[in-house]
Amino acid sequence: MNKKRLLALTLGAMMSVTLFAGCGKKEAASEKKDLKLTIYCGLMEDHMVKAVKEFEKDTGVKTEAVRMSSGEILGRIRAEKENPKASIWFGGPADGLVQGAEEGLLEKYVSPNAKDLADKYKDKDGYWSGIYVGYLGFASNQKLLKEKGVEAPKTWDDLLKPEFKGQVSMANPGSSGTAYTALATVVQLMGEEKGLDYMKKLHKQIKTYEKSGTAPARLAGQGEVMVGISFLHDGIKYREEGMKDLIMTAPSEGTGYEIGAVGIIKGGPDQEAAKKFVDWCLTKKAQELGQTVGSYQFLTHKDAQPPKLAEELKSTKLIEYNLDWAGKNRSALVEKWNKAIK
Ligand code: G6P
Repeated sequence: MNKKRLLALTLGAMMSVTLFAGCGKKEAASEKKDLKLTIYCGLMEDHMVKAVKEFEKDTGVKTEAVRMSSGEILGRIRAEKENPKASIWFGGPADGLVQGAEEGLLEKYVSPNAKDLADKYKDKDGYWSGIYVGYLGFASNQKLLKEKGVEAPKTWDDLLKPEFKGQVSMANPGSSGTAYTALATVVQLMGEEKGLDYMKKLHKQIKTYEKSGTAPARLAGQGEVMVGISFLHDGIKYREEGMKDLIMTAPSEGTGYEIGAVGIIKGGPDQEAAKKFVDWCLTKKAQELGQTVGSYQFLTHKDAQPPKLAEELKSTKLIEYNLDWAGKNRSALVEKWNKAIK
């Protein structure tokens, strides 16, 4: 090889190294700038929009979110298992995430911020972290109750009164985490056989099964039905927004509750951004955002200020809701419910 050719080759090699290194630098810079995230979200729409806006502001991560009910999120993640389109499951009862983890759809992640959550609010295996707590109950329309001369329901059995025939709304436990919480609560309170028998009787009282868990409270507020089975904080939201006839009660034998959770979708495209999002969700500041847009759940961060309006729910009697059991038996129980109401 002559000297000229050798020099050309050496220069060429040096240039490509420089180019490569330059490329790497550029990538690192744009990686930071371009971090983005897609979220499937079970929260109320306005809460979701607020959270996304604040997260973007705090971290610079460009974020898109789609609102779905819990069963729909699970169905979507299952369908996209080979090629996940989103990286975060944000909100909705943890039961759905317990099932998602069982099916290998979630990624383990223990955020450093999880130290601020009591153990009962986080998965021991790190698949989900709790961000809020909501109590299940009845949202009734006082005006309609008065017209019929009947009191707001105070027990599960009260819903079976003849006055409530065709006057109760709940969501479908297959699509809605709220309605699944109701089904799992009744079965835990009464045992499987009696619980399913109760759901069969309740079926005769139901006007409509809705897709989302907030709809029953809204329908009661609008006077479409006398009673909606929903989370009580959703009833409070609608009442505060102007549906003044709403009155909230909870079954005196005890009611179930949700731990609303966040988790990372396995194989999702934005794992780094997803971790940032979980970290953010567990901060006091992020948790206190909900109450600014009418989401009145209790919170899981040890120092977060619960909404003032949640105080009226403080004395609600809760059952010892077995979340692990409820999550792991979700599909089977929904199927049994489907059969029972046929
Ligand atoms: C509302 C409530 C949340 C709940 C969610 C469940 O957004 O405010 O506390 O987790 O509904 O939705 P779903 O439609 O699955 O019952």
